[in-house]
Amino acid sequence: MEKRIALYSASLFIALAIASCKTQSPSGSADSKVSQSQGVYQYRDEDPTVKPFFSDRQGVIGRNGMVASAHPEASQVGLTILQAGGNAVDAAVAVQFALAVVYPGAGNIGGGGFMVYRDNAGKAFTLDYREKAPGRATQNMYLDSLGNVRPGLSISGHLASGVPGSVDGMVEAHKRFGKLPWAQVLQPAVDLAQKGFALTVRDALGLNRIKTDLNTINPGKPYFLKSLLPTDTTTWHKGDILVQADLAQTLQRIQAQGRAGFYEGETARLLAEEMQRGGGLITEEDLRNYHAVWRNPLQAKYKNYNVITMPPTSSGGVALIQLMRFTEPFPLRRWGWNRDSTAQVMIEAERRVYADRAKFLGDPDFVNVPVDKLISPDYLRTRWTDFSFAKATDSRAVKGGTIPGYESLETTHFSVVDKEGNAVSITTTLNGGYGSRVVVGGAGFFMNNEMDDFSVKPGVPNMFGLIGNQANAIAPNKRMLSSMTPTILEKDGKLFMVVGTPGGSTIITSVYQTILNVIEHGMTMQQAVNALKFHHQWLPDKTIFENGAFSDATIQAMQSRGYVLERLTNTLGRMDCVLVRPDGSFEGASDPRADNTARGY
Ligand code: DON
Repeated sequence: MEKRIALYSASLFIALAIASCKTQSPSGSADSKVSQSQGVYQYRDEDPTVKPFFSDRQGVIGRNGMVASAHPEASQVGLTILQAGGNAVDAAVAVQFALAVVYPGAGNIGGGGFMVYRDNAGKAFTLDYREKAPGRATQNMYLDSLGNVRPGLSISGHLASGVPGSVDGMVEAHKRFGKLPWAQVLQPAVDLAQKGFALTVRDALGLNRIKTDLNTINPGKPYFLKSLLPTDTTTWHKGDILVQADLAQTLQRIQAQGRAGFYEGETARLLAEEMQRGGGLITEEDLRNYHAVWRNPLQAKYKNYNVITMPPTSSGGVALIQLMRFTEPFPLRRWGWNRDSTAQVMIEAERRVYADRAKFLGDPDFVNVPVDKLISPDYLRTRWTDFSFAKATDSRAVKGGTIPGYESLETTHFSVVDKEGNAVSITTTLNGGYGSRVVVGGAGFFMNNEMDDFSVKPGVPNMFGLIGNQANAIAPNKRMLSSMTPTILEKDGKLFMVVGTPGGSTIITSVYQTILNVIEHGMTMQQAVNALKFHHQWLPDKTIFENGAFSDATIQAMQSRGYVLERLTNTLGRMDCVLVRPDGSFEGASDPRADNTARGY
């Protein structure tokens, strides 16, 4: 079957691939200036404008286990749990709770996420602990009487939150696969909240940035402010100790009572009261009714790899597989990393995939998502017929829409592998940085603003510029569509890579590029993470790229074919990945773009 698909796609695209070689500009010539020696990628380029890596950070090597996450304290917690005899799931649960303390911008108990798990026998599982719309949510809840979107309501404040799923997700994951006692796995997070931890520069800047919102949205509440004095202008600095006493108590309730410590009793009451105070919709009943869902993993072959990824409610897995299948037949390696033809087929694939996302993807418990069809070679062929190397496709011809702006990137991904070879890939989020910025009074944690991931009105872009329609319309108890793409790859049947990142709509394309950087361009895991990235999402019809991702020659070649390219002043992705090396050791790769850290042993 696999072979049949591979052959099929090969014959499907071969004509295009041959045609492309003829239309190569010098910058994309077959003689690409990339070479590989002993499996290590080397970039050779006479063009001084190209600096393909964000930094020269090296991967961390371990033989017994690896944790890569967004914060050094959280990665250390994961490592400690592994060294105490915990398995990858124990460590992942501990990291999720630790991030809720040390990385409040995205780590959370007030949000949700997805877990992809592959055990050491090769069996794969996915857990959907995405938030849900409250029972009282309605399709047009963010529209005024004229049907216009009321700006900001789905992004900031109490009405922006979905019913949180993270705690139930962790309870479920641990119940099914954990080895150490629940209380032990929660203890590091409790300690970090109770005793405090030293802020990094980035932690301090993040909290200083939201000071005004903290005061306006949470008047009189003591959370995350250095001082409560209204006149005080003191700001946080590196090394300041952040103690979170109320959060510590919330975590202790979860530690003592499991699910009931959050979805019932004191925490549920505090959360529902907070919602009432600020005009939010979440009730104690919503909390009692929330349950994470085990879903069948989405799996697909790519050459001698098996991609294990998240099915809907994420759009990420479907999109990743579509992207990989679209470009599989092309000689990306020969063309060279980010050369014009390589970039062109990837961008054209991305354009089509995001158009599909807008049209077809939504919560599978509410709408019929034609997953098999969307990833089938027959279907993908129909999507490729208007592709030409001579000229960029016009997104309006693929489908219509308008545009956005890009917000600060605050979701978080972590990857864990234990000494038995069990692997966890988790992406978890509050959506925007610090979510809705509502802190639950008495409980001390941020609530998500995940409602903005719904299509609040057909054709109106969300904060990531993504457009949706009925499939992702708001309905009571429905999950909002996500781009989060936690993924695990097998090579020749064995664990090979654990990968994922935050980045809103750019998650999918960053994961796609990072995977191809390793398996097509021969990079190490860390080089693949360091490598500069680009992104196209159908609408707006432009390719954004990190400075240096394309050489000047490539930019000129692309522009001459009609591509609109926009150089970013900020960055794309904050990957946390693990690669199994040929000798069986692990390479932990954390993103040098932020505080991300890998710890192994
Ligand atoms: O689920 C999603 O697709 C978004 N809520 C993810 C948000 C995100 O990645 C924010 N930035 N890093």
